[in-house]
Amino acid sequence: GQLNTLAKAKGLKYFGSATDNSELSDTTYVDILKNTSNFGQITPGNTQKWMYVEPSEGTFDFTQGDVITSFAEGNGQMLRCHNLVWYNELPSWVTSGTWTNATLISALKTHIQGEVTHYKGQCYCWDVVNEALNDDGTWRSDVFYNTIGTEYVPIAFETAALYDPNVKLYYNDYNIEYSGAKATAAQNIVKSLQARGIKIDGVGLQGHFIVGETPTLSAQTSNLESFTALGVEVAYTEVDIRFTSLPPSTSGYTQQATDYVNTVSACLATTDCVGITLWDFTDKYSWIPSTFSGQGDACLWNADFSTKPAYTSVISLL
Ligand code: XIL
Repeated sequence: GQLNTLAKAKGLKYFGSATDNSELSDTTYVDILKNTSNFGQITPGNTQKWMYVEPSEGTFDFTQGDVITSFAEGNGQMLRCHNLVWYNELPSWVTSGTWTNATLISALKTHIQGEVTHYKGQCYCWDVVNEALNDDGTWRSDVFYNTIGTEYVPIAFETAALYDPNVKLYYNDYNIEYSGAKATAAQNIVKSLQARGIKIDGVGLQGHFIVGETPTLSAQTSNLESFTALGVEVAYTEVDIRFTSLPPSTSGYTQQATDYVNTVSACLATTDCVGITLWDFTDKYSWIPSTFSGQGDACLWNADFSTKPAYTSVISLL
């Protein structure tokens, strides 16, 4: 068996991967990605983001996003749709616009209406709001928070629910995979939406970890349970476990395997942890080296498509 087949047999809804448009011309890559015994779920790594989808105000372009969603649908794979509201990869008309509270709320609603309507019925879930929090649990200073205040979050969830009542709505963030101020703040987002009767179905824990610094199985499991206790599902949405210096040692690869196993095990141990998504499965297309200089080797597959010890360990666990 392979990742998705085995994960489903253990009760998950899917084991998935992110991908991006330029990667789909790599036939070796595509043969692995499209195989549903490996991956039962796809996340577009970039091309559903605001700068791609609404490059100028009120003008939507779903061309690139549709390439990924059609790929997934053609292969019978679920879609995590990603994302509606994020501080990054915004078009300049949003970041440099002259906004009032009212005009930005209007633009936000138009964006969500346009995108959710286009993909209605195609997504298992939407990451409605992505990375709204700082690591200390305070709100991230971005155009939405600075103009609208915290109300942009309920507005975003209400608008998404209005245009696709059946899609699951997620809050998604990193460094919420262990207890602390940021995880507590994410739980407070869930509670405050629920207190107002606004639909939120899930929390995505990105899982961008560092080898040797990945939280333990018990830390991850108890943290997942502190979310699911609120009545929402959880998922690991962007897993990669990187080395901060390269090349890794043999013992480094063993530690990485332990870290992957702990993360997958925590999801398996948690009722209502629905799935695990890799933030791409091969180092060939990982975002890590371009974002964290000198770091990498974070994926289950090497750049040459051979598999890492961590892959073998995850398969044995499943
Ligand atoms: C990353 C993509 O992988 C890169 O290609 C892009 O340059 C920047 O964004 N958290 C998220 C993802 O929610 O959308 C980010 O994806 C990685 C961090």
